[in-house]
Formats: sequence, structure tokens, C-alpha cells
Amino acid sequence: MNSPVIFALFVFISALFLQPRALQYPQELINGYQSDLIGDLTSPTMSPSQSRHPLTYPTATSSLPVPALFVIGDSSVDCGTNNFLGTLARADRLPYGRDFDTHQPTGRFCNGRIPVDYLAKRLGLPFVPSYLGQTGSVEDMIHGVNYASAGAGIIFSSGSELGQHISFTQQIQQVTDTIQQFTLNMGEDAATKLISNSVFYISIGTNDYIHYYLRNVSNVQSLYLPWSFNQFLATTVKQEIKNLYTANVRKVVVMGLPPIGCAPYYLWSYQSENGECVQMINDMILELNFVLRYIVEELSQELIDADIIFCDVFEASMDIIKNNDRYGFNVTTDACCGLGKYKGWIMCISPEMACSNASNHLWWDQFHPTDAVNAILADNVWSGLHTEICYPMNLQNMIAQKAR
Ligand SMILES: *[C@@H]1O[C@H](CO)[C@@H](O)[C@H](O)[C@H]1NC(C)=O
Ligand SMILES: *[C@@H]1O[C@H](CO)[C@@H](O)[C@H](O)[C@H]1NC(C)=O
Ligand SMILES: *[C@@H]1O[C@H](CO)[C@@H](O)[C@H](O)[C@H]1NC(C)=O
Repeated sequence: MNSPVIFALFVFISALFLQPRALQYPQELINGYQSDLIGDLTSPTMSPSQSRHPLTYPTATSSLPVPALFVIGDSSVDCGTNNFLGTLARADRLPYGRDFDTHQPTGRFCNGRIPVDYLAKRLGLPFVPSYLGQTGSVEDMIHGVNYASAGAGIIFSSGSELGQHISFTQQIQQVTDTIQQFTLNMGEDAATKLISNSVFYISIGTNDYIHYYLRNVSNVQSLYLPWSFNQFLATTVKQEIKNLYTANVRKVVVMGLPPIGCAPYYLWSYQSENGECVQMINDMILELNFVLRYIVEELSQELIDADIIFCDVFEASMDIIKNNDRYGFNVTTDACCGLGKYKGWIMCISPEMACSNASNHLWWDQFHPTDAVNAILADNVWSGLHTEICYPMNLQNMIAQKAR
């Protein structure tokens, strides 16, 4: 697109954002937070002994540029949350995890590592534990916590037909709880220093399409064009980032959505002939990414002492699909694990359903990329190694900036 077109689009979007006309959203989109679910899902309780001994802030970590990595999101980055929930969206059985470091299922929706595993390594941090999978002691959380839950969306009820999940808003609440716990344990100054230097990685939104908009839940398609739906999603993300900012978060990575119109499930269900992606779906995703990138720019102007970047997974994925042979992939449409055309019909539930070598496949299962793709995505977020996908800068440059 040339710059006048981009400028015109921005003016158009700004006009929409500035309009006082309040869009009416269904109450369930907004009120879900009061659900009784949250009662069962609060942090693992702290034992009295843990809370009574203030933890001394380990000086070794303060020399690291980034003391901790916190992860918020859906199955793209879930590392075990859903193992503790009553849901169909679980990855706690082989072949999930078969190529992971431990060769065991962990709850990651992948044959191996998810992008935040690669990024933790880049940051010199251990793999980040899942919030529900650790003891709740500050020692366990000092290098970061992963709150991501498969099936979760920005909208509370996205994905609820699968069972329990921890929605975006609930995850932010859990983050706030963690920060309070840090403050109680290490004191306000040390906690603020830790939180403001840590990276918060947000990867969410596909389930608002997969399990909400595209399924026409609550007649949503008749009530909202994709444009207003995307506005709602992006506005919610913006508000939650502001809430994080209020809790002293200063470094945020907002991940765009992948081209789910190319996922084996949609190739199968939309009866793609030769593996062509479902353009109608990808167009909506592109638009959401555009609006997300825009709100990240807005936030950067509003919260001047924060570093917030947007990384476009769509762009990176399309580059991999187009240049698959250069990247070493020769299977770009079929999942490694599943049944039916494109292996998109039945989800991956047993080792016999999986191909023998996942590393020449783009897709691991109906919806999730392979470890090989996650490695490329993480390299791009980190340094733009294969393609520059982060705006206005990549993660490495973001954390290399001098503290202001
Ligand atoms: C969505 O669902 C409603 C009824 O629940 C139906 O009237 C409408 O036609 C559906 N929209 C699409 C695009 O399928
Ligand atoms: C992909 O390459 C592998 C070997 O590198 C080969 O065994 C396999 O048959 C190829 N698959 C396709 C669909 O070309
Ligand atoms: C799997 O495929 C990759 C990429 O084609 C190749 O480099 C690797 O050697 C293969 N591994 C096995 C065990 O065949």
C-alpha cells in the first residue's frame, strides 16, 4: 500500500475511534468476568510460612536486562494451564510434546516448543512455568509466569463450548494478583523494579474468531460486521494494557493473529480445493491485526514511559508459506497429526495419527504450528532474523534501549 492510502485509512480509523457513538455490545461480552469460574481458579493458595518470610530480591537477577517473562494468551502459548481445568482443549497426552526437550506432553499445543520457550532462552531465562502448575510461592514466579489458557479469547465466552478456560480478563486479574504478592514479599520498590523491567507477552484473539465470530454465537454475525467486532476486540486489549500499565508494567509485546484461514481445520471445513487459504477468514484477521497495530501506536503515545511493540505473525506466516522450500518445509497444507483431508477433520488425539517427522510440516495439528515454525516466529520477534515483523522495533532492540 502506498502512503496516501495508509494515511487515509488511519484518518478513517481515528474518526471511528473518536466518535462518541457508543457501540452496543451484548452484555455477555462484557460481564462474563463475574462468572463463578473465577472462584475456583484463583492462585494456588499461599501457605502462611511463604507469606511470612519476605523474600530477599536475588541480586543475581538484577544484572539481567530482563528479570522475568510473563505470558498472557491462548493455546498459541499455553504451557499447562488447561491441564488443571475441565476442558476438551488439552494437550496433556502424546503425541503432544513428543519433540519437546523432555519428550513428554506438558500441555503445550505443539510437538515441541512454543514461541515463548524460545524467547525465554533468548532472554537467558528458564522456561516459564504455568500459573496453575506452580506452588504459588514468589520463588517459583520470580523469572515469570505463564497465564495462557487454550480456548481463551478476548471475549469471556469465546471457547466456552470446550469447557473451562481462563479468559483474557481473568488472566489480567491473575497478573495483578501476582504483582500484589510480589509487593507483599519483596517490598514495593523491588517489586516495581522487577515488574517494570519484565517483558509481558500477549498472544490472544484467534478464539474470538474460531469459537465465537465464525460460529456465529449469539447471532454475532448479524449484529456486527467484522469491522465493529474487531474494534471491540482491540478496544478491550487496549484497556487491559492500560490496566497492566497501572500495575507498573512497562514492556509489552502484542502478538498479531496468525492466518487461521490457512489452518488445516478451515481448509477441510471450507473444502479448499488445492490447499488455498480461506480468504474471507484471513481478511478479517488482517483487519484485526491492522487495528491492533494501530492501538499499540496509540498506547505508545499515551503511555510515554512504556515500550509496547506489535509483532505481525500473519506477515511472518505468509512469508513461510510462500517461501516454504527456502525454510525447509515441503508440507504446507496438511497437519502432521489428525485425520481426514488436510488432517483437518478430526483433532490430534493419538500418536498413531501423527506423521513421523514434524519438522517439514508447517502445521502440527488442526490449528497449531509445529515447533519448527515456532522457532522461526520467535527468531523474528527477537531480532527479525528472517523477516522484520515487529513495529516499531523488535524485542531485542526494545530491551536494549537505555532505561529512561
Ligand atoms: C447467525 O445466526 C442467526 C440466528 O442465530 C441467523 O439468523 C443468521 O443468519 C446467522 N448469520 C450468518 C451469517 O450465518
Ligand atoms: C517431504 O520431504 C520428505 C523428505 O525430506 C519426504 O519423505 C516426503 O515425502 C516429502 N513430502 C511431500 C508431501 O513432498
Ligand atoms: C526431518 O526433516 C528435517 C527437514 O526436512 C530433516 O532435516 C531431518 O533430518 C528429518 N529428521 C528425521 C529424523 O528424519
